[in-house]
Amino acid sequence: MAALRLAACATVAVQLCLVLSPSHSLRWLSDGKPESTAGHGHDSYRTAYHFHPANNWQDDPNGPMYHKGVYHLFYQYNPLGATWGNGTLSWGHSVSGDLVNWAALDNALDPTTHFDVNGCYSGSATTLPDGTPVMLYTGVNATLVQVQNVAFPKNASDPLLREWVKPSYNPVIPLPGDVLGRRFRDPSTAWLGRDGLWRVAVSAGFKDGTGSTLVYRSKDFRQWERNAEPLYSSGDAGMVECPDLFPVADPSVQKGLDFASRNDAAWHVLKLSVMATQQDYYVVGLYDDAADTFTFAGDNDCRTWQRFDYGHVYASKSFFDAGKKRRVLWSWANESDTEPDYVARGWAGVQTVPRKIWLASDGKQLLQWPIEEIASLRKTRVGLLGAEVNAGGMNEITGVAGSQADLEVVFDVPSLEAAENLGPNQLLDPQKLCEEKDASVRGGIGPFGLLVLASVDLQEHTAVFFRVFRHDGKYKVLMCTDLRRSTTRASVYKPPYGGFVNVDIEKDRSISLRTLVDHSVVESYGGSGRTVITARVYPEHAKTTGSRLLMFNNGTRVVKVAKLDAWEMKAAAMNGPTEGPTTAG
Ligand code: FRU
Repeated sequence: MAALRLAACATVAVQLCLVLSPSHSLRWLSDGKPESTAGHGHDSYRTAYHFHPANNWQDDPNGPMYHKGVYHLFYQYNPLGATWGNGTLSWGHSVSGDLVNWAALDNALDPTTHFDVNGCYSGSATTLPDGTPVMLYTGVNATLVQVQNVAFPKNASDPLLREWVKPSYNPVIPLPGDVLGRRFRDPSTAWLGRDGLWRVAVSAGFKDGTGSTLVYRSKDFRQWERNAEPLYSSGDAGMVECPDLFPVADPSVQKGLDFASRNDAAWHVLKLSVMATQQDYYVVGLYDDAADTFTFAGDNDCRTWQRFDYGHVYASKSFFDAGKKRRVLWSWANESDTEPDYVARGWAGVQTVPRKIWLASDGKQLLQWPIEEIASLRKTRVGLLGAEVNAGGMNEITGVAGSQADLEVVFDVPSLEAAENLGPNQLLDPQKLCEEKDASVRGGIGPFGLLVLASVDLQEHTAVFFRVFRHDGKYKVLMCTDLRRSTTRASVYKPPYGGFVNVDIEKDRSISLRTLVDHSVVESYGGSGRTVITARVYPEHAKTTGSRLLMFNNGTRVVKVAKLDAWEMKAAAMNGPTEGPTTAG
């Protein structure tokens, strides 16, 4: 059969042609340039395979979905520039056949009507039982009050879902009397109860400072009624944004679930984004689908929950990928340099790579891993088996471009005898521990790990490493990404990030690290995806020279490298920029 050609040619905003082959992989046909290339130029911080629009500002991922063989990502987008753009936020829209290569379409939602004229804020997609997607999103209305709106595709049989219609009966959920007008937003993906009613979770902030996640029920996405009980409520964390509630399967299964298959669900996960800390927290608990309540063991203050990422990401959103029966997570990684810096570059904000997430065998933690399709970008590979990094030593990884790489390494730790002791208070703040015991502080077992985006003279480098401690007769593994030497530029936020890795190092005697390096992103997965740290970095040297990659060990014991694979990465097709980042090694 001739290739199914679905031309998305000549959309107004971006002149591009896409072809969907029968396997629905997207390819570029033309060399059409995006209309605006302002600020694009030669830019050593532009990512090659982390999602970003060609220009301007993006923040939260919105409404990710899989529809008729095509992946869709919508995102908070300011079409007018590289700042957040209070009042002008739209939904950017990109499509992909593989979640790796993306083509930009026209905006899906723009602030046009009284119920969203001051901004189309975050929201989510829900697929109805007949396969039609529907969007719920927050509109900032003419009086600057946040309300919840619905939007439908003009033509649901169009796999690219290019046009979206906002019914005139919006808003479907007006501001409730007890909620603050600027604190009512971010509807989740809706789910269908056994009683045939849809539910949606919405963030709400109250006058007394309480932050809640409300539940509304509806039979038709038009009339919504608030449940008396919120899904979550706390006076401690303040406003919580972008709620995500989803079922997870028994750990042995590793597959993702949507609400339609919730009978297979062992547990549910609730994720909340805390406005004050700009961090996401999740907990595994029990969702009661009659009362629409969520219970869990532990502290009600969500800032004590676990984090998907101990680095610089926010406003994550997952979706069920019905194609591959997996749950996939997107998260926004904001810039860490200053507004004048990114305004000059003409773009701001990337998404982490899409991650598959599933429940770990302890039933308490989620494991995360870059979706397998990311490996399609791997090209030149160098490998090592059975090498050693001596105490106080460094081994260079040569043969792959250090600015655009995927590194997988397994460190063997044969003896734990030299592990440093850890006091009880030091367990509380892993970030502080990474600061006190950085890569330059000699340890016993570690610090060992990678130096990435390193300059020739090593003055600039980002250190991603582990350190093993003894605590209360057991061992604790700390993972750090230390940005303090990542750039010589002073005006950049460059903290150390840290988290403990929930592994049994005494039993395993080994720990793995996967680090994705992409110009201004260092995204690292410790202990097979138990602890993840994403950082934004701005090395000065990358403007003129390549970057070095090294393994290092600043402990007193040799560390064995059971296995190292390092790949240089190809650039993904990324929303049409024709001048990609430099790939200089
Ligand atoms: C989270 C958030 C959301 C809001 C959106 C606006 O980053 O503040 O609560 O809908 O961003 O861009």
